Amino acid sequence: MGEVTVTRRLTFSAAHRLHEPALTDDENRELFGLCNSPYGHGHNYALEVAVRGRVDPRTGYVVDLKQLKEIVNTHLVAHLDHRNLNFDVEFLDGINPTTENLVVRSWAILEPLIQPARLLRLRLWETENNYVEYEG
Ligand code: NI
Repeated sequence: MGEVTVTRRLTFSAAHRLHEPALTDDENRELFGLCNSPYGHGHNYALEVAVRGRVDPRTGYVVDLKQLKEIVNTHLVAHLDHRNLNFDVEFLDGINPTTENLVVRSWAILEPLIQPARLLRLRLWETENNYVEYEG
């Protein structure tokens, strides 16, 4: 049997302000518009964690989704949920919290924890209309 992909979806809410310190205030306003508003704004994010591997003949699972949920919650979502991404999250320190930057940092945290299956893809929804994907 070949490999199978299993996906778990998790949600969290967080505030952020898009602001790149290397740019001037005018450049930031021009580039990020309302997303650069000084006091920030919030999103209801959804993260889809896709894991790929062989089906364990003993369990019939690629990965135990309860365990996967626990790992992602403990190591990632708990640090993001109801936080301000500009100030409250150690692994985003000094980083402009775009969805792209957030998904790349999230990969670095999760990738070593998903064993013996492997992390195939992260899809991070920032709004109903926008998502970013990262495959390492
Ligand atoms: Ni935003």
